[in-house]
Amino acid sequence: MLRLFFGTGVSVVELAEQQLAIRGAGWQFVLRQASRGLGHAVRALAGAGATRAELADQLLEHDGPAALARLYYHLDEWRSSGVLGAVAVGASGALATLAPLPVPDASGPLQTGEPAPDIAYVLSPFACLRRVDDELMVESSTTGARILVHDPRARLLCMTLISAHTRDALPHAACGLSSEEADALCALLHHARILVQAHPTAHSQDAHDEPLARWQFHDLLFHTRSRMGRHVGGYGGTFRGAAPVQPAPALKAPMSATAVDLYRPAIDRLCADDTPFTRVLEARRSRREYGATPITEQELGAFLYRVARVRTTAADRPYPSGGASYELELYLSVASCGRLAAGLYHYHAGEHRLHFLSPMTPDVRALLEDAARALGRQDPPHVLITIAARFPRVFWKYESMGYALILQNVGALYQTMYLVATAMGLAPCALGGGNPDVFARASGLGRLTEASVGEFALGSSPRHGPAGE
Ligand SMILES: Cc1cc2nc3c(=O)[nH]c(=O)nc-3n(C[C@H](O)[C@H](O)[C@H](O)COP(=O)(O)O)c2cc1C
Repeated sequence: MLRLFFGTGVSVVELAEQQLAIRGAGWQFVLRQASRGLGHAVRALAGAGATRAELADQLLEHDGPAALARLYYHLDEWRSSGVLGAVAVGASGALATLAPLPVPDASGPLQTGEPAPDIAYVLSPFACLRRVDDELMVESSTTGARILVHDPRARLLCMTLISAHTRDALPHAACGLSSEEADALCALLHHARILVQAHPTAHSQDAHDEPLARWQFHDLLFHTRSRMGRHVGGYGGTFRGAAPVQPAPALKAPMSATAVDLYRPAIDRLCADDTPFTRVLEARRSRREYGATPITEQELGAFLYRVARVRTTAADRPYPSGGASYELELYLSVASCGRLAAGLYHYHAGEHRLHFLSPMTPDVRALLEDAARALGRQDPPHVLITIAARFPRVFWKYESMGYALILQNVGALYQTMYLVATAMGLAPCALGGGNPDVFARASGLGRLTEASVGEFALGSSPRHGPAGE
């Protein structure tokens, strides 16, 4: 048996005679010419909840059989949009609860039909099973639906559905469930698209999910959860980590006592005389060939100053950053750059200095070799800039979208690097993949505290002159 309910915070408001609004956070359904029975039904759903049969009984009592079609129409509409939650109820209480989606989706992501008895069903490859407190959470990365499985016997049945079963062949007794209880649980999982047809036929809905077939589980889960609408909990700058935890500082303390002062270009002169913006933009290319003479220390200093220095305060730099978090740190694996010793450095944006971290260890070399492979080259770039994110600085403030925001910040930094390098006549190229484990070993940083999230190759250009001339 499934007991349906609107989520917490959903209320039913009388707008006018026979006109009701069902209101949630940021959404509402308006029911015009709502009969008495329909009014009772929506109030039951906004209260303790009710089964479909109980709702139908109420409607029959108040409005007569002609009103049933409208009730079923709305129930299907609300269920498929995700606004209605559902509890699978067994003989001894709740087996599992499907939470309503935070915002209903009119395109109907949840399915309303019952699973057929003679068709084999299996857990979707887009289902995610994990522990929340001492219960099992089953989530769907396709719909964003979340089911909390309370009953240990129901958890066993979920595990059984790793292999395909028809409803009639479900080993419910082995799990300690009655066939009605197993049916209720399967109906809930099916509704959330967590249980899908094992061998879709040409006519089944799952067979037409061609766009879904292109997705990988982790990409879809990340997309579904980090955008608005199907996130869990708050969204955006909710300061979820605030008090008693202090935010991570805007600038890292110097990472070593051995520092190299970097060249500072005259920004006023560049403002007056630099290559025109449109020429830079039009000349921007990814360049994977380097000059015979490596990038100079002066060029590297000017590049970092123009891209990433602290201008006035830590929250004011040439590249933009979501929420002015400035959580990104630049680590330079230097293969060849003037008289700079080869090895790994951290760029201190406040001091405009490089802090020496290590000589050319096997791990630093591995970072450069991975970059060379990504560039399709034999030799490494003169300098590889590894962009690492200080996660706590973002996660302290942002909810649901913190990691996505970091990747967006990387994109903004990449483009600033491309444009500055192009204006300076250097050879820039962003890199799409890097190994955070190798970076963690090379830098000694904890991979959950500060890990690499982007890489950028930089070198002198075989051509001379700014903006690709
Ligand atoms: C996020 C990102 C990742 C990239 N990853 C690589 C890479 O791993 N290897 C590479 O050679 N180029 C990489 N590139 C460069 C693209 O191949 C390049 O931007 C694209 O082909 C367009 O050419 P253009 O930059 O010369 O205009 C990347 C670019 C971006 C923006």
